[in-house]
Amino acid sequence: MSTLKVAIVGTGGIALQNHLPGLAMCGGVRVTALCDTNPATLEAASKQVDGAVCSSRYEEIVTRDDVDAVIIATPNVSHAPIALAAIGAGKHVMCEKPIAITSADSRAMAAAADAAGVRHMTAFTYRFVPAMRYLRHLIDRGDLGQPYHFRSCRLQDWGTRNLGWRQVKALAGTGELGDMLSHRINFAEHLVGPMSRLIANVKNLTPVRGGQPNDTDDWVAIIADFTNGATGVLESSKLASGRNESWRSLDYVEINGSEASFEFSTGKWNELQYGRLGGPGMAPLPVPREFWTWPGSPRDPGAGDPLVAFRYDQAFEFVDAIRNQRPATPGFHEGASVVRIMEAALESAAAGRWISLEK
Ligand SMILES: NC(=O)c1ccc[n+]([C@@H]2O[C@H](COP(=O)([O-])OP(=O)(O)OC[C@H]3O[C@@H](n4cnc5c(N)ncnc54)[C@H](O)[C@@H]3O)[C@@H](O)[C@H]2O)c1
Repeated sequence: MSTLKVAIVGTGGIALQNHLPGLAMCGGVRVTALCDTNPATLEAASKQVDGAVCSSRYEEIVTRDDVDAVIIATPNVSHAPIALAAIGAGKHVMCEKPIAITSADSRAMAAAADAAGVRHMTAFTYRFVPAMRYLRHLIDRGDLGQPYHFRSCRLQDWGTRNLGWRQVKALAGTGELGDMLSHRINFAEHLVGPMSRLIANVKNLTPVRGGQPNDTDDWVAIIADFTNGATGVLESSKLASGRNESWRSLDYVEINGSEASFEFSTGKWNELQYGRLGGPGMAPLPVPREFWTWPGSPRDPGAGDPLVAFRYDQAFEFVDAIRNQRPATPGFHEGASVVRIMEAALESAAAGRWISLEK
C-alpha cells in the first residue's frame, strides 16, 4: 500500500480538531503540505506535522506532485476556487461545509470532480455519529414505515461575542444557516429523501458582535415538503441563551412515520429513543456495537471522548474511498443539494413565500 499524500488548506480550528487527528488514525497517510494565509496559524499547525511544506498560497500547494488529495478547511467563500484548482490539478478533494456560497458554484465543483474522475467528499461530520447511522439503517429496514414528519432543532448559546469571519457575509455567505443548519438539511435529505419545496425565515438579532458588524443570520427556520409527501421543520439558533455550546447543547432530530417514531441527539451517540405505533411512548434503544464505528475504520470506540472521536471516521472514509477507487460518502452532490436548499431558504425569507425545489 503506497503512502497517500494529503495537503490541508486552512489550518485553523477544524483542521486541528478533526482533520489532522482523523488522518493520523488512518495509517498509510502523510500530510505533506499545509497552507494558511495567516502566518501564525500556519506556523502552529506546522509544529504538529513533521516535514510538511508550508505556503500561504493554495495555488502552490494544490498543484504539487507530492500531494494526492486536498482537504479544504478555509472560510466558506474560498471553498469553490480552491476545490476547482485542486480538481484541475487532478487531486482528490474533501471540502468543508457549506461547499460553496452559490448553488451554481457547488454544482460546478461536483461536475468538475466527476469529469476529472477524482474522489470528492463533503465534510458533513455528523453523518458519522453512530446513532445517526443506526437510524438510517432502521429506516432502510422499514421500521419507520412511511415517513410523515422530520424535525430538527439545534440550539446554542453563542451570546454576542465576535465570531471572526463567521459574522462577515462576504466571507461566510450565511450565518447559522450555513454553519449549523447545513448539517441538519443534509440529515433531512439523508433520512427522508429530497425536498420538493420550502418556506423559510432568517433573523439577525445581533447586528454588532464583539464591537464589530455582523451581517449574517443568528437564527433560521425552514418548513419543508419532501417529494415523498413527508413534512419537515428545521430550526437553528446561536441565541438560545443559557443552553451552552457544541455537544453540550441541544442537537435534536425526530422522525415520525406510519409505524414508529425515532429520536436522535448527537449528545447520545450510542442511543436512540424509539416508540412504536400505539405503544406506551418513547424509550431508549441502544445502538448495536457494529454501528459504533464506520465500516472498516480502525478507530477504537472506547478511546477518547466519543462525542469528539466519531468525527475521525470522516477522514477514514475519504482515504478508504481513494484507496478503493469508489465514491466517497457524502460526496459533492449531497453538498450541492444542501447549498441549493440554503439558497432557496434565503430567497424564501426575502420574498416571504414558498420556493419550489423541483428540478
Ligand atoms: N464539519 C464540521 O463539523 C465543521 C466544524 C467547524 C468548521 N467547519 C467548517 O470549516 C471551515 C473552517 O472553519 P474553522 O472553524 O476551522 O475556521 P478557522 O477560522 O478556525 O480556520 C480557517 C483558516 O483558514 C485560513 N484561511 C482563510 N482564507 C484562506 C485562504 N484563501 N487560503 C488558505 N487559508 C485561508 C484562516 O487564516 C484560518 O486559519 C468552514 O467552512 C466551516 O464552516 C466545519
